[in-house]
Amino acid sequence: MKILFVCLGNICRSPTAEAVVRRLLATEAPDLQVQVASAGLGSWHVGEPPDSRAQAAAKRRGVDMSTIRARQVSRDDFARYDLILAMDRQNLVDLQRLAPAGYRERVRLFLEFGAAEEIDDLDEVPDPYYGGDAGFERVLDLAEAAARGLLVHLRNR
Ligand code: 4NP
Repeated sequence: MKILFVCLGNICRSPTAEAVVRRLLATEAPDLQVQVASAGLGSWHVGEPPDSRAQAAAKRRGVDMSTIRARQVSRDDFARYDLILAMDRQNLVDLQRLAPAGYRERVRLFLEFGAAEEIDDLDEVPDPYYGGDAGFERVLDLAEAAARGLLVHLRNR
């Protein structure tokens, strides 16, 4: 099982989701054979580590993102990953457009997996890039909630 998390820049939301889910899998489900990665729809930040604000916020929760490097989504990713999880609805639409025929159903919203009461009924992870530190805490809260739901889904497969 391979999961790809996707946002716009691959420096804030999707690397956070990747790192949060990787840590949850390591601590709660080391028996599950699941690989996680992330990518961005845009190419602006390719090769860069995650945004320093995202890294700092994650580090405060014991989550290390320092080795992640941004890369752009490619059409090959749709065959390589079983599940491609978009951070917002625009990402979802863009991924569905990019997907080769027959692969569109692999693309879903990450927050589909979050329990409604834990994610304030949101279906998108708000982009924190142009905002303040609170936005990065929010991304982590949502990622942790959706990660727990995703783990239940993976266990029930
Ligand atoms: P992300 O945030 O999609 O969560 O990585 C963004 C990072 C960079 C840009 C936009 C969003 N940007 O326009 O450069």
